[in-house]
Amino acid sequence: MSRDAVPPPVRLGDYLPPDWLIDTVHLDVRLHPTASRIIARLAMRPNPEGREGSPIVLDGDELSLKSLTLDGVPLAGTAYVVTPTALTLLAPPQRALTLEIETVVNPSANTKLMGLYRSSGTYCTQCEAEGFRRITYFPDRPDVLAVYTTRIEAEREEAPVLLGNGNPVESGAVEGTSRHYAVWHDPWPKPCYLFALVGGRLDRITEDFVTATGKKVALGIYVEPGKTERAGYAMDALKRSMRWDEEVFGCEYDLDVFNIVAVADFNMGAMENKGLNIFNDKYVLASPQTATDADYANIEAIIAHEYFHNWTGNRITCRDWFQLCLKEGLTVFRDQEFSADARSRPVKRISDVRLLKGHQFPEDAGPLAHPVRPDSYREINNFYTATVYEKGAEVVRMLKTLLGDEGFRAGMDLYLDRHDGDAATVEDFLACFADANGVDLTQFALWYAQSGTPQVTVSGCWDEAGRSYTLDVVQTLAPTPGQSEKLPMVIPLAIGLVGPDGADMPLTPDDGSNAERGVLLVTQPRQSFVFRDIAQRPVPSLNRGFSAPVKLTTDMSTADLLFLARHDSDPFNRFDATQTIALSHLVQATAAARAGAALPAPDALVAALGATLEDGTLDPAFVAQALSIPSETDVAREIGEDVDPDAIHHARTTLRQAVSGALAPALAAIYARHAPAGIYSPDAASAGRRALRNTCLDLLAAGGTEESLARAQAHFEGADNMTDCFFALSVLAHAAPQAREAALAAFHERFREDPLVVDKWLALQAQIAEPQALERVRGLTQHPAFAWSNPNRVRALIGSFAGLNPTQFHRIDGAGHDLVADAVIDIDGRNPQLAARLLAAFKSWRSLEPVRRASAEAALRRVAEKPGLSPDASDIVGRSLG
Ligand code: PHE
Ligand code: ZN
Repeated sequence: MSRDAVPPPVRLGDYLPPDWLIDTVHLDVRLHPTASRIIARLAMRPNPEGREGSPIVLDGDELSLKSLTLDGVPLAGTAYVVTPTALTLLAPPQRALTLEIETVVNPSANTKLMGLYRSSGTYCTQCEAEGFRRITYFPDRPDVLAVYTTRIEAEREEAPVLLGNGNPVESGAVEGTSRHYAVWHDPWPKPCYLFALVGGRLDRITEDFVTATGKKVALGIYVEPGKTERAGYAMDALKRSMRWDEEVFGCEYDLDVFNIVAVADFNMGAMENKGLNIFNDKYVLASPQTATDADYANIEAIIAHEYFHNWTGNRITCRDWFQLCLKEGLTVFRDQEFSADARSRPVKRISDVRLLKGHQFPEDAGPLAHPVRPDSYREINNFYTATVYEKGAEVVRMLKTLLGDEGFRAGMDLYLDRHDGDAATVEDFLACFADANGVDLTQFALWYAQSGTPQVTVSGCWDEAGRSYTLDVVQTLAPTPGQSEKLPMVIPLAIGLVGPDGADMPLTPDDGSNAERGVLLVTQPRQSFVFRDIAQRPVPSLNRGFSAPVKLTTDMSTADLLFLARHDSDPFNRFDATQTIALSHLVQATAAARAGAALPAPDALVAALGATLEDGTLDPAFVAQALSIPSETDVAREIGEDVDPDAIHHARTTLRQAVSGALAPALAAIYARHAPAGIYSPDAASAGRRALRNTCLDLLAAGGTEESLARAQAHFEGADNMTDCFFALSVLAHAAPQAREAALAAFHERFREDPLVVDKWLALQAQIAEPQALERVRGLTQHPAFAWSNPNRVRALIGSFAGLNPTQFHRIDGAGHDLVADAVIDIDGRNPQLAARLLAAFKSWRSLEPVRRASAEAALRRVAEKPGLSPDASDIVGRSLG
């Protein structure tokens, strides 16, 4: 292979069981800033299911090998081969044996943040997906499960806290030195991607949790010194998660301790290492003065997510990385359900669907589309995607919809029982639901295999004379990369027929199908469903609760949608009805804007928004969602091709202005009525009131009147919490150029010492939809608060610009594309994962109008041509251009 030849992709079909197994791993880690030494003692044996007589091939990456023994005897140099990516024992004895491997790594030079690295001086590790090979030579694959014992040693001064997986065994001073050590033992066999250790100077909060069967668990959350007051909410969320998992899934915790460590430099959100979750501190630290309601909700969800992995991910792990959705989709589903129970279920569903449509639908519609379970990859790090996570969760949700609550729980119980301790596959998972319910899920499994968003077209017809109602359903699935032919899917379409009085009519299907739960089973390319005894013309409410992740098209009139917005018993569809009207208006208004014309805001839409606003029976959090005008990304996705972001922005701004003008008195009244009462609390009800009040503030300011801007200024100055303060700052920054600079400066002055708050300040400026945003972003990269080495800073500034400022990222002169491409090229040498994630912001480039499309393509090609581009970035750029 020539030096720069691209290695072939990894394929699901090529899976082979490991040739060697590892029963126990003893690690002795001596922490040192630039030369940490790791001695790994591996008790290995040939796998009876592997190939006979195999060599031992251990993965490695940026390791320096110091010594190697087999059963205590140093190996001759001819017995093994070391390459940059592997250590191979050529002809090992085919029996149980012990390897001892000594490696040295430099954690301070580890800018990829994979393996052992330092974050603000704290030693920490990140091993998923393939980081353990950056600590020691190992079969770095999730189907090799071993019991780990870890001894960690460090200078006491530098790292008074030493944490590992499992339970603490012993600790003490290293005689005659300034060093100390701790030994941890994890009794549960695990894959190496769940390994973790931490060493540092950290403060902590602790609490006890008593499990359902009365076992006491010591909980600890470790944070940078001085930040313990900000860890309380995470602790509360952790305890609630532990209880919820016992009550809802029968899952009890299985160690004596559970620790969480917050670090400032982290590539992702958080990591579910066994007994030692490591978190991006953004998802742990919160105080009313520094975190918004959305931050609190994210913390709750991510704490729950990582904790829930203890069963779905750790006790049952993945056979290979193609099965990533087995743990991620399922665990996202579980955290969504937890938040739905803890907060408002309808509002949670609305925000989850908005996230899915905003991130996953565009992924599925572009060159990076891939199945929930991909069948090949070049770089697994690039598959921690909205498709694997969010669509993966939708697929689990559909199982629940199809099987009902009890059938779903029976399947889960069987899965947790049958596969405990296994490295499982999607087939294993589905077989549990099939077996527990006596159903065939063969066709359903296509949700894991076929990429793209199914398009479902429904039309309804009432036969007055025959007193029947027919729904004609057509499903199609457009070709996606690598998949030109598609098969029909199983689509559980939850529906209702809403009578003229607003009540649901009884569903009496012609074929006796399972419509009693209101779910139509769509399995064919075209299908008709006939309902009997329908005496009056109903309005169909389709895909209730967003029961299937499809793009729904109907021939419904605006009048019928308005009727649903007012009467549907399904809150999701009440929300969706006005969104549908608004979106179709925005699509038309965008076309008009490109032709130099303007479309007036539809009166009916404005009236419907007004009615929702004034309906005192609705949950304020729901009203806030229902009043939000579809985003520019929503509109771009709906248009789908020849997209002109400026025209979309113009259409949306115009609509917001019109709504503002028409509803000003009502908005002002609701704003006033929801003034804060008492001290800040992050609970869902209080957050909902703030969300509604802030939505009113924002819509009022969209009118641009002096009064509305003065209100925003007062809101900013009077805020006693970050939610209100930052929301008002955003309103001022977007809508009040004359007040913007002073407000931004005041905010920065106040929070300059707080990196997580500075991130909000960076992100906000990157989102201003004005040509000067580009220079501002460039300028901010030079700001002392910014650091290319910190993923949170980079995502806040560059990520927000690329992902949340469509008019400026897609500037017609190409300067926005260039800025992001330059940043990607710059970051790639240091942190390839971060670079690849930023680069994925180009995923919808083909849907742009020709001039912008050409500039995006040129920027991508420039990245592609960079010498020494990482496998991470070249995979994304290759598929994007593909
Ligand atoms: N497994 C983590 C989660 O809970 C995500 C992650 C992946 C974190 C890879 C770090 C590296 O979703
Ligand atoms: Zn996860």
